[in-house]
Amino acid sequence: MTVMVVATGNPGKLREMQAYLVDSGWELVLKPQELEIEETGDTFAANACLKASLVALATGNWAIADDSGLQVDALNGRPGVYSARYGKTDSERIARLLNELGNEVNRSAQFTCAVAIARPDGTIALESEGICRGEILHAPRGDGGFGYDPIFYVPQKQLTFAEMTPELKRSISHRGQAFASLHKDLQRLKE
Ligand code: IMP
Repeated sequence: MTVMVVATGNPGKLREMQAYLVDSGWELVLKPQELEIEETGDTFAANACLKASLVALATGNWAIADDSGLQVDALNGRPGVYSARYGKTDSERIARLLNELGNEVNRSAQFTCAVAIARPDGTIALESEGICRGEILHAPRGDGGFGYDPIFYVPQKQLTFAEMTPELKRSISHRGQAFASLHKDLQRLKE
């Protein structure tokens, strides 16, 4: 199997990507710890490409990176690429978002996930994006998931991301969709 370096130092993220890309014919491995990359892009796609490209160049291998976050319509797309940096903890980030949204009637929002794959020379071979639309609740609901999951409600399922089983969340989430469309192209990449 050809090695593909995952542009993350987080073993949880590696496991998640392995689950999405099982049977794709690639062996996913963690990036070297000393290799730090700043997310300086102003879109999810730009950050995913930047991370994949730099990790490929630094390691001389194929590399894969993702970037994701929450965009709230009434906040002009914030927190967006700053989703992870919106506060120190998940509860601080949620509290800040709910405070900024206040009693706004338009609660529409979406999670977006961009994924990029770079060749060993750093050029981008594949890009993919997944979007999941939903609404921001006034208070958290559910204990599962991570990040903004307890306040992200999906009307079609009548559940927040935090109330869904991991399987259900994977089947409809921004990340699930981005990886599903990538899976087909990935098999073709080595042919
Ligand atoms: P990154 O893609 O690892 O940079 O993470 C972006 C940030 O967006 C995370 O730290 C979370 O705060 C948020 N985020 C991305 N995807 C999800 C999700 O599926 N549920 C909840 N929060 C998410």
